[in-house]
Amino acid sequence: MEITLKVWRQKNAQSRGNFETYKLDNVNSHMSFLEMLDVLNEQLIKNGKEPVAFDHDCREGICGACGLYINGRAHGPVKGTTCQLHMRVFKDGDTIVVEPWRAKGFPIVRDLIVDRTAYDKILHAGGYITQKIGSAPDANSILIGKDIAEPAMDAAECIGCGACVAACKNASAMLFVSAKVSHLALLPQGKPEKARRVLNMLDAMKEHGFGNCTNTYACEAECPKGVSISHIARMNREYIAATFGSEV
Ligand code: SF4
Ligand code: FES
Repeated sequence: MEITLKVWRQKNAQSRGNFETYKLDNVNSHMSFLEMLDVLNEQLIKNGKEPVAFDHDCREGICGACGLYINGRAHGPVKGTTCQLHMRVFKDGDTIVVEPWRAKGFPIVRDLIVDRTAYDKILHAGGYITQKIGSAPDANSILIGKDIAEPAMDAAECIGCGACVAACKNASAMLFVSAKVSHLALLPQGKPEKARRVLNMLDAMKEHGFGNCTNTYACEAECPKGVSISHIARMNREYIAATFGSEV
């Protein structure tokens, strides 16, 4: 396949970035999107140019490191992470525009890499439990009903990729925060600090430059792990209960 790439290049957070155009004329349709970027970088290095910086780790849809904005969609045109996207979804002769996440809370480090430390800081504010659970307990030592276990595990699917923020016109991190709040507040081990958790995590979200939710559902549409916006509604109930000292 012949592919034209328009890739965002930016030396550092302070410099102005711009799109550079590159042509690749031997792209195998079985390649992953990141392998195609590897091929681009080999070509750039061979020609004495700076390779494109992009983030990745597991390349298996687990770690959340690889997010890119591809042709105006977070993680590209297919549901899933950028590392799970394959070139077969594009056509010979296509032009593909590749950008980093664009949000105040995720400053650009270089080219396609953004700094997602803000997510870590939100997690530090409440994404933990204080109960001593010792070593791994038997799975059936604390019985949890399916009606609780399933939404908690659905929320735990969040890999912290940041696509929800990138897709949202308010750059809101509500889907991410609500996934963490739901996951821990639903399970008995996370209940002792659930009021403090939701208040502190939402404060941290605002402090680090993320906006609020205005129910456009863009986050849910682009989340590679199918985290439901219903977790935001649950988090809002948790927030009201924590504010007024009542039970959800
Ligand atoms: S909620 Fe979905 S889109 Fe947002 S960080 Fe988690 S996995 Fe990524
Ligand atoms: S590289 Fe880990 S999710 Fe994509």
